[in-house]
Amino acid sequence: MNNQRIVVTGGAGFIGSHLCEALVEQGNEVVVIDTLLRGNKIPKHIFKEVEFHQVDVTDEESVAKISKGADMIFHFAAILGVDIVADNPIETMEIEVNGMQSVAHAATVNQIDKIVYASTSGVYGHLALEKSVDEDILVDPCTSYAMAKRYNEIYLASLHDEKGIQSSAIRFFNVYGLRQDNRMVIPRFFEQAMINDPITVYGSGDQTRDFTNVKDAVKATILLSEKVHGMEIFNVANERESTIGELADVIKSMTNSTSEIHHIDAPKKRYDYEVGRRYGSSAKLERFTGYKPNTNLQDGLVAIHDSLRN
Ligand SMILES: NC(=O)c1ccc[n+]([C@@H]2O[C@H](COP(=O)([O-])OP(=O)(O)OC[C@H]3O[C@@H](n4cnc5c(N)ncnc54)[C@H](O)[C@@H]3O)[C@@H](O)[C@H]2O)c1
Repeated sequence: MNNQRIVVTGGAGFIGSHLCEALVEQGNEVVVIDTLLRGNKIPKHIFKEVEFHQVDVTDEESVAKISKGADMIFHFAAILGVDIVADNPIETMEIEVNGMQSVAHAATVNQIDKIVYASTSGVYGHLALEKSVDEDILVDPCTSYAMAKRYNEIYLASLHDEKGIQSSAIRFFNVYGLRQDNRMVIPRFFEQAMINDPITVYGSGDQTRDFTNVKDAVKATILLSEKVHGMEIFNVANERESTIGELADVIKSMTNSTSEIHHIDAPKKRYDYEVGRRYGSSAKLERFTGYKPNTNLQDGLVAIHDSLRN
C-alpha cells in the first residue's frame, strides 16, 4: 500500500506507533489522532513525517474534520491494561463505543469506505480455555473492555449493511515487542529482572498466552487493510502457547538476573479477567492474505533484551 492518506487513531501507542512507522515507510501520508495518554511512542524520524493531532477520538466534530480526504481509517485508540480496565470500566467502554461512533461518523461524512479496527482475543473470554480458537466459535466477552470490543464488531457489521462501509476487525492475541510499556507482562518481567527485583507471577504460572510479535501484527494488519471487503473478523495469533511461568524463567535467564520468581495471588479485581488458557488460530488470516505470524517468541524476546541493553 502506498500513496494513501491514512488516519490512525491511537497512532502514538505501542501497536499504533509500529503501524505508523510501516505506513510511512511504504510511502503513505499518515495522520495520527491521539491524546498522548501513554506518551508518544512514534520514533522521532517517523514523527517528523506524520500529521499529528492531539485530539480525543470521541470528539466527533474534530475527528470528522481531520479525516477529510482520507482513504482509510485504522481505529486503534483505546484504554487497555487489565488493572487499568478493572479500575475504569465505564471510561473504557465510553471510549470504545463513542470512539467508534466518531470514526463511523467521520467515515460517513467524508465518504471513506474502509475501516480497520483493533478488536481483541479477549472477546473469547473463558471459551478460550478449551482449545485454539477460530473466529467461528461463539464469543463470551466477560470484561467491559471485551464487551465493548464485541459491540463494536457488531456495529461495524451493521455499518456495512446500512451504509456500505467496509471493515476488518482484528482480534489480536497478546501483542508484544519494542516500545511496549509495563502495563503488559513481558516488559514488566524484563523491568523486574534487569534490576534483580522479584519477578512476580500471578498464581501457579501455568496459565498460557499466545504471544504475537508486533512486527508480525503490523504486517498482518496492513495485508488485511489491502483486502478489506464486506465486514470480516480475523484472529492475529502466533498459534503457540507459552506459560507465564516459562516466560518468567526465560527472561530471568536471558538477562542473567538474580531475581527470585515469586508466585503471588492475583489482585481480586483480576479474577474475572484471568483466563487459564488462550491461544488462537490464524488460519483465516492465512487464507485471506497468504501470511501468518511466524516470529519465534525467543527471538522476539532477544530483540527486546538487545534494545533494553543499548
Ligand atoms: N497490545 C495488545 O496485546 C492488544 C491485544 C488486543 C487488542 N489490542 C488493541 O490494539 C489497540 C492498540 O493497543 P496498544 O497495545 O498499542 O495500546 P496503547 O495503550 O499503547 O495504545 C493506545 C493509544 O490510544 C490512545 N488513546 C487512548 N484513549 C484515547 C482517546 N480517547 N482518544 C485518542 N487517543 C486515545 C493512547 O494515548 C495510546 O497512544 C487497542 O485498540 C487495543 O485494544 C491490543
